[in-house]
Amino acid sequence: MMLGICYYPEHWPKSQWAQDAKEMRELGLTYVRIAEFAWSRLEPSQGTFTFEWLDEAIETLAAEGLKVIMCTPTATPPKWLIDAYPDILAVDVNTGLVRGFGSRRHYDFSSEDYRREAMRISDVVAQRYGSHPAVVGWQTDNELACHDTTPSASDSALAAFQGWCEQRYGTIEKLNEAWGNVFWSMEYPDFQSIDVPYFAVTEVNPSHSLAYRRFSSDQVIRFHDEMVSIIRKHAPGRFVTHNFIPMSDTQTDNYALAKDLDFSSFDNYPLGRTDLFFADEDTEQFKRYMRTGHPDFSSYYFDQTRGLSQKNFWIMEQQPGPVNWAVHNPRPEPGMIALWSWVAFAHGADTVCYFRWRQAAFAQEQMHAGLKRVDNSPSAAYPEVQQVKAELDQLNINLNDPLHYRVAIVSTTTNQWVSEIEQQGQSYRHEKVEFEYYNALRLLGLNVAFVSPEHSLTDYDLVVVPTMPIISDAFIKNCEATDATIVFGPRTGSKTDEFQYPRNLGPGKLQSLLPAKVLSVETLRGDIQEKLNFNGEQFHSNRWREELLPGDNCEVVARYEDESPAVVKSGNLYYVGTLSCSDFLTNLLGKLAVEKGIATHILNEDVRTVERGDYRFIFNYAGTPVRVDAFADADFVIGSHELDAYGYAIAKR
Ligand code: GAL
Repeated sequence: MMLGICYYPEHWPKSQWAQDAKEMRELGLTYVRIAEFAWSRLEPSQGTFTFEWLDEAIETLAAEGLKVIMCTPTATPPKWLIDAYPDILAVDVNTGLVRGFGSRRHYDFSSEDYRREAMRISDVVAQRYGSHPAVVGWQTDNELACHDTTPSASDSALAAFQGWCEQRYGTIEKLNEAWGNVFWSMEYPDFQSIDVPYFAVTEVNPSHSLAYRRFSSDQVIRFHDEMVSIIRKHAPGRFVTHNFIPMSDTQTDNYALAKDLDFSSFDNYPLGRTDLFFADEDTEQFKRYMRTGHPDFSSYYFDQTRGLSQKNFWIMEQQPGPVNWAVHNPRPEPGMIALWSWVAFAHGADTVCYFRWRQAAFAQEQMHAGLKRVDNSPSAAYPEVQQVKAELDQLNINLNDPLHYRVAIVSTTTNQWVSEIEQQGQSYRHEKVEFEYYNALRLLGLNVAFVSPEHSLTDYDLVVVPTMPIISDAFIKNCEATDATIVFGPRTGSKTDEFQYPRNLGPGKLQSLLPAKVLSVETLRGDIQEKLNFNGEQFHSNRWREELLPGDNCEVVARYEDESPAVVKSGNLYYVGTLSCSDFLTNLLGKLAVEKGIATHILNEDVRTVERGDYRFIFNYAGTPVRVDAFADADFVIGSHELDAYGYAIAKR
């Protein structure tokens, strides 16, 4: 397990580089990621290359024994390139305006000019550094699709979409039927007349929107796959990774994006994300965790990242202090930088890199902390990184073993898209629904794997499908092939592959395994709660309620107050036709886990545990010390079952 840093030599005078490198070595860092935004300094005008400074920067880092992660600089095409090929700029799908130069990610995945130029610079950089002894790995681009850059309403995107439709549907009649275009006289006479699904007077056809999302995601994947193959050609034996952000933000199928990578990486900004997730509605949660991040936030994304490649992952960027981009930007509590680092290792990270070495003295991110301040003094994070390094050295434990998983969540991007396109009730948020199930499993002390619907389920004992409106045949086969208990959340099977209502009603295809029908659906304001009876106890249903008709062999597991069924089961399959309070999920999932012989630990809401290899990690997100009696007699290698405020402990299992 290693530590690393994101570094921008081009932002600092050369005279500072050697000292920086020396201090990085002294801090115990192994990796330095560089050059992901350096295009204008590598190629100041078309075909004129100025690599000498980067050569020197790499040599300076290598002289201190540091290993370099090189990037393709394609997230920031320089001004001369935009001026030469204005079609590189994407068109905003909300306003219809061209998204301008002056920040980053100002490119359209459908621009053929950009694709060619991006691959050209990738080729040049990969040729130059592919077999450089100090360059041990590669990062593609930077946070692909961040800042809502997956879809574009440009002419090139539209033309590519029309071609994509022709490929998918074959004839315009088939497309019209698949999308139900007879409704509101939306039928298209030919592929060339198809529009982008934006700027209409009122709701656009959800089938059209889903097709556009699928297409836009495919464009990102095509672009990325080509880049990966260029790097591989020139960089034998080096790993290739990408620094992902969550699928909810990329609007891209991250599983597909990850398929050609050696492993996936994640950029971890727990405070910024807690702010964005809770600020609008659940301000209590935000206030409580504003300086720690929600206890499940980082790990929710770590477990997803691990699921992308089904292997250990990297944290390519970790928040070192206040960021500049959330609605509010609090500082982390003392100890959190170290705690977050250990949470990452515990959930399967092999390396944690911090963003960034020194706070920028200029431009957009000057209010974003680094490990060092602008005057080069160490920031509050610095001693915490020293602490993590000392603990890693002291422990010298082998954590290469895989995590122990008996529980999995099945997630997909397509289903997120469906719920976003057809929200049906304002209080239904896809990511929140999935997070609620994850949170319940983590409060039970369970390690949670994330898998795609195509992934076999035979290794797990409890599988949770928080929502899956569109079910593939492959997924049905995977369900048939496992003895696991499977819990499906509301909306499962509620749409066909082309976003139509299944003629056999929800849960559509799932009826072949679980004979129940969804007769109707209602959505409610987030602050309305209704009684939900389960296992002799009373809980709450809220936001989303389905009217269920249990078929033959179906048992009713939970009921609404009027006795109508809210959760039904058939064999090893459970269908939950409502959203609920979190106590209900913890009770239901806890009971099902115990029935499968999975040990659960009911945790204090600020405490989390996770197992990796032979070790169990315990984390305290509270500002007060806590005793975790369940592990009182464990064999601790760091700390004890009495955790400090924002403290952690590591025990042998
Ligand atoms: C990341 C991005 C970095 C930097 C950072 C600031 O999303 O990859 O380049 O902008 O955010 O928090």
